[in-house]
Amino acid sequence: MTATRVAALSALEPDSAIRVEIDGVAIAVVLDSNGVVHAIGDTCTHGDISLADGFVEGETLECWAHGSAFSLCTGKPLNLPAYEPVPVYEVVIDGDDVLIDPAVTKDLS
Ligand code: FES
Repeated sequence: MTATRVAALSALEPDSAIRVEIDGVAIAVVLDSNGVVHAIGDTCTHGDISLADGFVEGETLECWAHGSAFSLCTGKPLNLPAYEPVPVYEVVIDGDDVLIDPAVTKDLS
């Protein structure tokens, strides 16, 4: 699979998330306040909730349902009730294009 354009960089709002879907893979894309674009699995590991509907704070995305905040860098929840991480995807910026390949997750080992 190759990377897919999911958004225009210039259209992303700082400290907010959008939900994109590539070949059935739901991904939350976040532009943080430092200008870094992150991409993590969009489905909270505690329930079938879109994390993109939650709240960005620093380098975390908080699930609106029960408050687990997931690291945008590692995908790990920083507090309960979620305890399983979400995947973290590589993001490529090409000019104004934000590209993601859902088959390429970051190696965080
Ligand atoms: S569904 Fe996300 S913390 Fe419960």
